[in-house]
Amino acid sequence: MGSPESGMQRNGSGARSGDGYMATALPPTSIKLRDDSNDLPEEQAFYRDVVQGLECRPRSLPSRYFYDDRGSELFQAITELEEYYPAACEREILSGQSGTIAEYLGDDFGLIELGPGDGHKSYHLLEALLSRKASFRYYPVDISAGIIPPLQQNLAGLDQLQFHGLVGDYEAGLQYLNGRERRHVVLFLGSSIGNFSMDESADFLRRLRMSLHAKDLLLIGFDLVKDPSILIPAYSDCAGITRQFNLNLLLRMNRELNADFDPDHFLHHAAFNPRNHAMESYLISLKEQTVSLQDPISCLQSSFTLGCFEAVQTETSQKYTEADIKDLASRSGFRIEANFQDSRGYFTDSLWIADDR
Ligand code: TRP
Repeated sequence: MGSPESGMQRNGSGARSGDGYMATALPPTSIKLRDDSNDLPEEQAFYRDVVQGLECRPRSLPSRYFYDDRGSELFQAITELEEYYPAACEREILSGQSGTIAEYLGDDFGLIELGPGDGHKSYHLLEALLSRKASFRYYPVDISAGIIPPLQQNLAGLDQLQFHGLVGDYEAGLQYLNGRERRHVVLFLGSSIGNFSMDESADFLRRLRMSLHAKDLLLIGFDLVKDPSILIPAYSDCAGITRQFNLNLLLRMNRELNADFDPDHFLHHAAFNPRNHAMESYLISLKEQTVSLQDPISCLQSSFTLGCFEAVQTETSQKYTEADIKDLASRSGFRIEANFQDSRGYFTDSLWIADDR
């Protein structure tokens, strides 16, 4: 097994470009993983995904594009809303139960966090591990290089923390760690798994399991099914922040895809689908209107005519029963070791162990 540094491409003097490594402004403790996908440039992928979603019936827009700078700012504001309980619930779990969780995680492992955000979710757990003098290295993995410097800054108070930021997709991150760490503990916090449908989640988790060894651990957040009168306001708050967040996708398309959406002609709508336990967000066209957009590179144009009150779905957020969680774990090769819930029973951070049966 190599040292964690071996094979690392640091930035600064060691950074190369043209062979898949980019010279980004990453701190010297972080690396950008080789990106082997010969995919389209980001701005063209945006155009392709939007056109694909608007061409489908019923129409949809891909939720991964919510998070430009303004979108991330608005999402941050959402997490501070009274109505948006998931963030507060998980904060309560991790600030109150990190000591117990840390005991389960043990000693001597690589701690991989998928989508670390600004670090506030994992802070308490990292602190609890350090105070138990656990030996571990922390590898936050994010697709966006911009996440890493502020994250490292926010965790700077944890002076014993061995921080190794990885920029790339989750699979590249896990692949990188294979062979470098004897034991893996993966954190997938927030309700990020909820952005996938049930089948997509099972598929994602099975691929995650395949990059782990038997007995490796996964701590994963699930938003539990609850009364729709609690769910719905969480996705349509009375101050209208979620409305702005949803409409911001239109402004982003106007800016980046030369589109001509008028946000005043769209309505934000959130609904709970009680059959498949999903919260769904929509933009509803308030009149018949034709909108156009353009690929910024090839200048190819597309236009779409939306009917009066036609709904464009922008988000699905899956909620789970305890049975759903058990089922997902066993379908993807894990066993539930423990569940950590908030006092209201709204949310669970579920600790899974990679099974070998
Ligand atoms: N997917 C996240 C969630 O389910 C983010 C989110 C919160 C969101 N509110 C939203 C996405 C409203 C679209 C619309 O919590």
